[in-house]
Amino acid sequence: MKPQLRPTTSCFGSGPTAKRPGWSLAGLDGALVGRSHRSSPAKARLGELLERSRALLGLPEDHRIALVAGSDTGAFEMAMWSLLGARGTDLLAWESFGEGWLSDAKGQLKLADLRTFRADYGLLPDLDRVAADRDVVFTWNGTTSGVRVPDGEWISDQRSGLTLCDATSAAFAFDLPWQKLDVVTYSWQKVLGGEAQHGMLVLGPRAVERLESYRPPWPLPKLFRLTKGGRLDESIFRGETINTPSMLAVEDALDGLRWAEGIGGLAALIARSETNLQTVAAWVGRSPWADFLAERPETRSSTSICLKIVDPAVAALPLDDQERLIKELVGRLAEEGVAHDIAAYRDAPPGLRLWGGATVERSDLEALLPWLDWAFGETRPRFV
Ligand SMILES: Cc1ncc(COP(=O)(O)O)c(C=O)c1O
Repeated sequence: MKPQLRPTTSCFGSGPTAKRPGWSLAGLDGALVGRSHRSSPAKARLGELLERSRALLGLPEDHRIALVAGSDTGAFEMAMWSLLGARGTDLLAWESFGEGWLSDAKGQLKLADLRTFRADYGLLPDLDRVAADRDVVFTWNGTTSGVRVPDGEWISDQRSGLTLCDATSAAFAFDLPWQKLDVVTYSWQKVLGGEAQHGMLVLGPRAVERLESYRPPWPLPKLFRLTKGGRLDESIFRGETINTPSMLAVEDALDGLRWAEGIGGLAALIARSETNLQTVAAWVGRSPWADFLAERPETRSSTSICLKIVDPAVAALPLDDQERLIKELVGRLAEEGVAHDIAAYRDAPPGLRLWGGATVERSDLEALLPWLDWAFGETRPRFV
């Protein structure tokens, strides 16, 4: 039976994600469009963005935060290009984005002393193999497998290497142990539902020390340059961006931050995401056909909730057929206008991925789940 109730939004994609409840374009009326980003009001707006982000994330005093170009990729590559190569690097990869950083480290930076620890979709590499005297590059939450590190316990407080953490689908949804993270990056179109555009770069004091004492052997494009005359360019961390930001996207990011503050801050954001995961988990517990791709419960992401099909007849189909089935299934849901952008990422095993970040209402997920059962029931007989 086709469900009667529809979610109030069909946006369940993993980035760009659903806008916050109640969002409207009118909320951006005050954006400083048409003004120089170097003008005093624009600088004040950029400064406000940095301060509100810092406060909401709960950054320690000695961590700096900046807005940079190129979304999360820009921020993370800026960190990789600026910091790596001073000592050996351990690189962890368990899904598509970690693999991307691995390919940067190996194929582009050609790091001489690189150890890689990889795991298949659904699993994590052995975190205990990471050495405290080496730099480590990793993704807090693997957006395409829905597998996250359970905590930061595996990172030594006595480390001499740096930790570079891509936290784009983790920031504002998980409690990040800032003292263990020397570099953290994220973009706006994830947990707070902002517009894609800029990357956010958080640097701890040890990363700054590295920047001021190490010059990488490769050329650094202007967009990546965080130092001037061998010293950290502090102005970047006051909102004097390297190049021109979008003040419209900035206004939208501020809208998301103010909303988050209004609902109770970081704790409320984390709780909303966790509730969304619990909602899906309860349904998975009852489902004869779907299960989490993440094998261990403590590694299950509450933001990018990745599901695989465990119906034995479907799971036994060749991968191409499973992919076609998923395509049809999500096509039905899109046609009904109940869900968009929920197929597994193109490099991941065939399945579904539901975004459960803070902007998603539990009631919308609850309304969506019976539609998944309906679409699977309609689609399955065409394949088995
Ligand atoms: C873990 C992770 N890293 C990097 C990216 C790329 O982000 P962006 O498009 O903001 O550069 C994504 C996008 O989904 C991601 O999930």
